[in-house]
Amino acid sequence: MKQPIIIDTDPGIDDAAAISIALNHPSFDLRMITTVNGNVGIEKTTANALKLKRFFSSDVPVHRGSSQPLISDIVDASAVHGESGMGGYDFPEINYNDLSSTHAVEAMRKELQTSDEPITLIPIGPLTNIALLLSTYPEVKDYIKEIVLMGGSASRGNVTPLAEFNIYCDPEAAQIVFNSGLPITMVGLDVARSSTLSHTAVNKLQTLNQTGDMLYQIFKHYKGDGLEKGINVYDAYTILYLLNSGKFNVQEADVQIETTGALTKGATVTDFNTHYPNCTVVMSVEPIEFEKMFFDVLKYCK
Ligand code: RIB
Ligand code: CA
Repeated sequence: MKQPIIIDTDPGIDDAAAISIALNHPSFDLRMITTVNGNVGIEKTTANALKLKRFFSSDVPVHRGSSQPLISDIVDASAVHGESGMGGYDFPEINYNDLSSTHAVEAMRKELQTSDEPITLIPIGPLTNIALLLSTYPEVKDYIKEIVLMGGSASRGNVTPLAEFNIYCDPEAAQIVFNSGLPITMVGLDVARSSTLSHTAVNKLQTLNQTGDMLYQIFKHYKGDGLEKGINVYDAYTILYLLNSGKFNVQEADVQIETTGALTKGATVTDFNTHYPNCTVVMSVEPIEFEKMFFDVLKYCK
């Protein structure tokens, strides 16, 4: 039975890996891709989602979402992902007829309320769209199976010493999502840092298949943290966790978001000692296990 999912994304080099797997793996029924301002501006993240839709000749709808955080000023990660957000590969021309005219939040609401089974939401960018969905239409919570999100860190950050990028971009949105009462799985920086994809493994991508070559080419333009060891393919861990949760080490915790501190804004304050956890934190996976899972799932791609 295919698992119905929705990916909310800010492509984004590591987003491209997650989207490639979700679009092609037989275990998933990807209902739609929704875009959000994040790594780069909304027009570029949306263009990058359309590039991937065309690369895979996919009929999965793409819906443009929020162009800015709920309250915070816009920040971006073009220094990490490049000016376009996904440079380094000669993607097919975008056809803007591929872009649905319905806003991401409206499209998610409609899909959730008409789905014959609950849907898993997989946000891999700032949580603006998800917070707007849950705040504007709280009744949709009944149709959401769980939220498996890339964001946060139980240890140090990557934008500031304490804050991870997706949460830092829109901490108010994150606070709404983490306190929604829905089943939340936080796939933060920790698990990727425990299993960085080595440069040797990245080089093997080039000859795997067309998708491997595309990822190899864009990974070469990635200026993320931990580059001395390899590539932290942060977003892909959400999808691989859904496919192989038993291979990951997790801990229950109460996670609250710092929204005001000059030095601490965007921190995911993670309390493992709580009697009232609000989320499952994915902490680690064996590096060799991650590499095997990653290559195994990419074999379903062209
Ligand atoms: O901190 C890593 C996260 O921020 C990833 O989702 C990456 O794509 C960026 O959005
Ligand atoms: Ca992302």
